[in-house]
Amino acid sequence: MKNKILIIITGSIAAYKILDLIRNLVSSNIEVKCILSKSAKDFVTPLSVASISKNKVYENKFDLNEEAEMDHISLSRWADLILIAPATANIISEIAVGSAKDFINTILLASNKKIFIAPAMNVKMWENDLTQKNVQILKKNNYQFIGPSSGELACGEYGEGRMSSVNEIEFVISNYLKKNQFSKNLTALVTAGPTREYIDPVRYISNESSGKQGYEIAKKLFQSGIKTKLIIGPNHLQMDENLDIVKVTSANEMFEECKRSLPVDIAICAAAVADYGIEKQPHKIKKNENEIEIKLKKNNDILEYISKHNKFRPKLVIGFAAETNNIKEYAERKLLNKHCDWIVANDVSRKDIGFNSLENEVVIIKKNNIYDSIPKADKSEIASVLVSKILNEFLNNDQRSLN
Ligand code: PMT
Repeated sequence: MKNKILIIITGSIAAYKILDLIRNLVSSNIEVKCILSKSAKDFVTPLSVASISKNKVYENKFDLNEEAEMDHISLSRWADLILIAPATANIISEIAVGSAKDFINTILLASNKKIFIAPAMNVKMWENDLTQKNVQILKKNNYQFIGPSSGELACGEYGEGRMSSVNEIEFVISNYLKKNQFSKNLTALVTAGPTREYIDPVRYISNESSGKQGYEIAKKLFQSGIKTKLIIGPNHLQMDENLDIVKVTSANEMFEECKRSLPVDIAICAAAVADYGIEKQPHKIKKNENEIEIKLKKNNDILEYISKHNKFRPKLVIGFAAETNNIKEYAERKLLNKHCDWIVANDVSRKDIGFNSLENEVVIIKKNNIYDSIPKADKSEIASVLVSKILNEFLNNDQRSLN
């Protein structure tokens, strides 16, 4: 089946370069539909875009006849991805505020697909704090920027603001389509959050995990098209309803649910699972005694179980290591002892990252002492980078097995 791309062309001198991009995509057997903004028509004509794309071209207006034939919802669903190129400062600011003022804006607002933006503007416009604020908002909302690059600009000034080359744009979106196609056949399971080990009906032992890191990873896997199940302990997160989520309480429940979820291609254990469980008392313990004894019993190690599962071992098993000191050394030990393929180490002695914080900073340790650091960033950003690396790993292995 052909991949489908919707290209939104807005008003910049770089618009004429998009004709080459459309030609290349069409000759790679990709179906392309385009929408021209009002000012884009000053730089390229609907007729030239239609004849190169071999498809109908849409204009940025609500037309009742067109809405009946292909409305803004259908058009945004039709595409496998949307590319805005060249993207002016104006369209970037409209999307950042969630505008629904015209056909283009409603398509973007209604889209459930990946949206790429290739900006083109004057260097000062690009560097302007307001533009940069809009760019940050869009990045946080999963829009992906391609460029801009630096060089001499159409206005004669020099700096960042040139639209990325057609080759660069084509490379990024073709790669995305390849990954997207590939990831549709993958399945994943992610554990997240704390577990609670109840002492009696009202008291428990737990930890500070908010579940955010694991949740963000599951969300990114899901957004990449991977069939993902999130098994999560008690939390206060507002979670995407489209995700397949199983809520559990104790380590044992998490273990049983993970067992039920195998086989999968990818397993990521980001949960802070209690190492020890307790035999729960049926009634609230009374404070008659000066001392009471609570007997702890070692819980099953979920990560180790998954890693050592002979029949259903996932192709890639990733554990986390929550350490407060000797981080790399202890994490390496966990990688070996728990037989996983990668371990993601984070420093949980810090308040600004790790447990119950918005950000994290991690080192991915692979077998053969390969280290890969992801600098401090939002947990969703850490998840994006990690999921990209996972997909690359699968794509590379796939290519190796094809060769
Ligand atoms: O939830 P957040 O607030 O976003 O915080 C994120 C986090 C700090 C919890 C996360 O980044 C993290 O480090 N998760 C692992 C926490 C942990 O318990 O690490 P550990 O070093 O004790 O365990 C090592 C690995 O074994 C982990 O993958 C853990 O999920 C797994 N494990 C541990 C015990 C057990 N019984 N079963 C397991 O699967």
